[in-house]
This record gives sequence, C-alpha cells and structure tokens, in this order.
Amino acid sequence: MKVILTYGTFDLFHVGHIRLLKRLSLLGDRLVVGISSDSFNEMKGKKSFFSYAERAEIVSSCKYVDEVFPENNWDQKIDDIKKYGVTCFSMGDDWIGKFDYLEEYCEVLYLERTEDISTTDIKKKLSLISQSELEKIESSLHDVIGIVKSLNIK
Ligand code: CTP
Repeated sequence: MKVILTYGTFDLFHVGHIRLLKRLSLLGDRLVVGISSDSFNEMKGKKSFFSYAERAEIVSSCKYVDEVFPENNWDQKIDDIKKYGVTCFSMGDDWIGKFDYLEEYCEVLYLERTEDISTTDIKKKLSLISQSELEKIESSLHDVIGIVKSLNIK
C-alpha cells in the first residue's frame, strides 16, 4: 500500500491546491494531509482567513484526500511518517531541498507548483479590489457633499 503525505495551510482553497492534491493522489493508494493549525501559523508569522477547523473541513471534503490531521510544529514529520505508514512525502517545489532529511524514512518528492496562483496573491488582489471600491465610494460621497452644499446655498 502506497501512502502519500503532504502538508500545507490550504487557506482560501484554490486551483493550485486542487491540482497538487490530484497529482499526489495519483502517486499512491492513500493521501494523508497535515494542515497547519492556527497556532502553528502564528508561529510562522502567518494568519489564515479560514480557521483550522474550516480549512480541515474543506480539504477533507476534497475527493483526492483520504485523511487530514493538524500540523502543530516543524518537528512532527518523522512521527507522522511512522504513524500513517507513509511511503512517500511530497510537497510543491517551493519547498525543494527543505525536506531531503526525510529520505531516511520514505521517498521524498517535490512537485511543480501551478503557476500564477497563491493564497498570498489572492489576498493581495482582494485587498486591491476593496481599495478601488473605497475610492469609488469616496468619490460618490464628494459628489453628494457637492450637491448638499449647492442645495444649502439656495
Ligand atoms: N501549491 C501548488 N501550486 C500553487 C500553490 C500551492 O502546488 N499555485 C502547493 C504548495 O507547494 C504546497 C501546497 O500547495 O505544497 C499548500 O500550499 P499553501 O502554502 O497552503 O498554498 P499557497 O497558495 O502557496 O499559500 P501562501 O501564498 O500563503 O504560501
């Protein structure tokens, strides 16, 4: 039985996540996913939009995923590999080389990331949209103020 293990925050679940999980599931019989807990994200200086419970519910609902569990620190990977009987540990290639030390326990594989999409990017784009919306509201308010002023003069 080939068991694949991966980790991630999986916030604002997007097509890059889906494609990675799909390719991982095709590598073996079972895909197990460690999801960064909120306290682990805090340790990494990250704050996710969705809570751990929500991210875990979303990822576990994905048809490519068999099981999810929380990742609470950097040092649990060897224990997780043993606990889940993992034969292959795999991450996107933004992590290339970082987990080679796990080769002692199982195969280690880095898969190409999907280009031009990330949670960080989505967050940036959404904040730009709200900025431009704010500018529109501000300009409409100026128009309204102008009308009110002109009415008062009369
Ligand atoms: N991933 C991917 N392709 C993308 C984005 C992510 O293959 N376009 C992979 C990552 O390499 C990682 C997993 O999905 O193995 C979970 O990544 P995560 O860090 O949660 O997603 P990102 O979108 O990269 O989030 P962030 O911008 O916060 O780093």
